[in-house]
Amino acid sequence: PKRSEFPEDFLFGVATSSYQIEGHAKGGAGPTHWDSFAATPGNVVRAENGDLACDHYTRWAEDLDLIANAGFDIYRFSTSWARVMPEGRGAVNAEGLDFYDRLVDGMLERGIKPALTLYHWELPAALADLGGWRNRDIAGWFGDFTQVIADRLGDRIWSAAPINEPWCVGWLSHFLGHHAPGLRDIRATAHAMHHVLLAHGTATQVMRASGMTNLGAVCNFEYPLPADDSPETAAATRLYDAYYNRFFAEGLFLGRYPDEVMEGFAPHMPKGWQDDFSTIQAPLDWFGLNYYTCKRIAPDGSAWPSHTEVAGPLPKTEMGWEIYPEGLSSFLTRIARDYTGDLPLFVTENGMASADTVIGGKVTDAARIAYYSAHLAEVQKVIAEGVPVKGYIGWSLLDNYEWALGYEKRFGLVHVDFDTLQRTPKASYLEWKDALGDRG
Ligand code: FCB
Repeated sequence: PKRSEFPEDFLFGVATSSYQIEGHAKGGAGPTHWDSFAATPGNVVRAENGDLACDHYTRWAEDLDLIANAGFDIYRFSTSWARVMPEGRGAVNAEGLDFYDRLVDGMLERGIKPALTLYHWELPAALADLGGWRNRDIAGWFGDFTQVIADRLGDRIWSAAPINEPWCVGWLSHFLGHHAPGLRDIRATAHAMHHVLLAHGTATQVMRASGMTNLGAVCNFEYPLPADDSPETAAATRLYDAYYNRFFAEGLFLGRYPDEVMEGFAPHMPKGWQDDFSTIQAPLDWFGLNYYTCKRIAPDGSAWPSHTEVAGPLPKTEMGWEIYPEGLSSFLTRIARDYTGDLPLFVTENGMASADTVIGGKVTDAARIAYYSAHLAEVQKVIAEGVPVKGYIGWSLLDNYEWALGYEKRFGLVHVDFDTLQRTPKASYLEWKDALGDRG
């Protein structure tokens, strides 16, 4: 679909994150838990890390040109805590803060709205040593980091969200162990999932007090589908939905956690958690949904949550994720109905990985074009039904460091050759450019 087929004030953007693109080894950044996680055998494909990544730290101007030339309105980027505060607390690395200052100015010069994420997963190692997200003090540490960013960038930021995808910070990293710090521990998970919301609320209050506006939260939701028709499978699917999707939305908007999750978490929650909702529920101006896929859930008789994922029949991306666009419209409708009402909604990530190669200077990623148009059509559908979706941000501008999957999974609109660092716009980039036209 073209820009003209959306409401006039609807905004389009692309996203990246600091550790995935910048090249963390440059510019005096401190070590992060992703560096040590990646250096531990078995965690990351080929033990790859973000030391060089796309070298955006040096090539940022070229990358901003790519965003502007395609006609995107918004650039959703993140600030690396350890680049700004190498020890996570205390001393500020002036070079790191200067980098983000230039980057934000570079966006404004090109007419791009800076959409800031304060934390997209690379926790300073010094804070991981203190227990990281398991330690309640992280809310204060994160608040202090937020203050540094607010003081320096706050006057030029268009929108801000404290934390990318609380579910990944909590469950994926502390229960499944797939991301740093790679724990598989229910107590660590219960603590992390609560503290991540406490840190979100604390940072929101800091930004609000600093005069920043347009503050939101960004959650990833996965559409749960029962693997069969049995009542046991239905219950397993409800539980998956509760700890994946509802936990954070209910914490943020209803001031409680789902009973189903508490059945597993109750003995493991940090002391006094019930008293934190006044902070967690700091008022927001928008909610962002990151959406990629559905999951088929079946009970498996193991320890709580006693279920597993089974493969589904739909076409899959390189991640092995089924392509299920109707999940996006369904979630947007449900979020507005159950949690956010008239609050503006944004799709803050959506996109797919494919095995793209450059042939004769071109990358023909037709599947990605189809993926984007199918999901945009779902957005149009719910807008027509009155759901207040105000923007759509694709993941990602560039092929980048896809966490535990290293550089193998390519999500970019722009191909990156990780040997030469050359950028090659893919067919999907050109399609976006055509669809967006002039930004007026
Ligand atoms: C999201 C992350 C992003 C990227 C995409 C594919 O969960 O926010 O960094 O890894 O998935």
